[in-house]
Amino acid sequence: MWTPGSQKALAGFTGKGNKKRNKEYIVCIAHYISVMFTACELGVFDLLLESGKPLSSDAIAACLGASTMGMERLLDACVGLKLLAAEMTLEGALYRNTEISNIYLTKSSPKSQYHIMMYYSNTVYLCWQYLADAVREGRNQYERAFGISPKDPFGAMYRSDEEMLKFMAGQNSVWSICGRDVLAAFDLSPFTQIYDLGGGGGALARECVSLYPNSTVTIYDLPKVVQVAKEQFVSPEERMVKLVLGDFFNDSIPEAELYILSKILHDWDDDKCKQLLAKVYKACKPGGGVLLVESLLNEDKSGPVETQLYSMNMLVQTEGKERTAAEYSKLLEAAGFGVIRVRRTGKLYDAVLGRKYRHVLQIWETRKKSTTAPQETIHKRNVQCVCFSLYQSLILTVCLTKAILNLYLNSCKIKLIPVLSSLTCIFIPEVLI
Ligand SMILES: C[S@@+](CC[C@H](N)C(=O)[O-])C[C@H]1O[C@@H](n2cnc3c(N)ncnc32)[C@H](O)[C@@H]1O
Repeated sequence: MWTPGSQKALAGFTGKGNKKRNKEYIVCIAHYISVMFTACELGVFDLLLESGKPLSSDAIAACLGASTMGMERLLDACVGLKLLAAEMTLEGALYRNTEISNIYLTKSSPKSQYHIMMYYSNTVYLCWQYLADAVREGRNQYERAFGISPKDPFGAMYRSDEEMLKFMAGQNSVWSICGRDVLAAFDLSPFTQIYDLGGGGGALARECVSLYPNSTVTIYDLPKVVQVAKEQFVSPEERMVKLVLGDFFNDSIPEAELYILSKILHDWDDDKCKQLLAKVYKACKPGGGVLLVESLLNEDKSGPVETQLYSMNMLVQTEGKERTAAEYSKLLEAAGFGVIRVRRTGKLYDAVLGRKYRHVLQIWETRKKSTTAPQETIHKRNVQCVCFSLYQSLILTVCLTKAILNLYLNSCKIKLIPVLSSLTCIFIPEVLI
């Protein structure tokens, strides 16, 4: 798990003061992760937060039902990793949480990453043990890790209610640290009717309605996920967050103005992504769009390292991979979406917005705006767009000719009704796309 917490702690671990031994430390990175996960799992950080004062290793071991010898070593290793701080007293060392641990490693913190760490520690890393096999075979490792068919990754992930709950809680964690950034990457306030496809436990949907209070977000997910979301994560009082069950590959997708696909496409290969995006495009209202929330690779795939590691995770767990902005744009374009804009947030996840055009003026306007925005990557849409522009021009020409002809034929007696009716014809096709 590569949280901001672990990044900072690792920077401390390999940084200042350790420079001479930096290279050798590479062999210890796996130990670092294990120490952090174990201290989380045993409840060390929660206990130290709740106690409100530094504690000795004996007291911590007694409270957590662990051996004093084992606990002392674990606590000292956490001090070395800057996850804990120790002060020496006459009675021995007293331990307390560092700021990073309080924020990210305790269960009760609003920015807690506890659940995703536990999911990684107890489930995902069982698949990672077969990483070499995954690289050799190019497929997920559910069969080796759990004796489950690799053909249905979510069937495997949801092999028990307990596993599903752990997965959903884990997926929710990340949005407490970067949900705002991905949702504010574009102004989504014009979209009031939003579907979060594969919205899981609903943490991103909740962030969305809090940032855009005029919007309603409907979480659309598999039936048993929706059931658990209702029972555990989304209370009925949250009236702006709704839940609908469905399978986005096999069932119809309801009409909406905006679809959020957060960490969805990275689960699937290109063919499945195209199939899903084509359905989304068909369901999308004219003028609406789709927001992809994904961790973007650099165009040359040289980084960021977090995304490269996520992509390895996709290999052992799913049918998908992490992609570059150009790769996502290509998938969106293939489905019919237009002027595609990309925003890197500087956090773990980024945002890509594609639009379904309403009419040609909007296309021109959006293109003009996009070219002046340096951060945005512009991808010309496509033959469909050009054809539509030509179609509109043709309609306009025919209607104007018809209107002029009307005027001419009626010479001085100008009949407004046929002229107006001709002009309205111009606008009718605009709502067709
Ligand atoms: C990686 S999780 C992402 C969850 C959430 N969007 C987020 O960003 O935290 C993928 C989600 O897609 C859902 N999902 C997978 N296959 C699906 C399908 N065929 N139809 C609907 N949802 C599906 C899963 O249940 C899960 O909630």
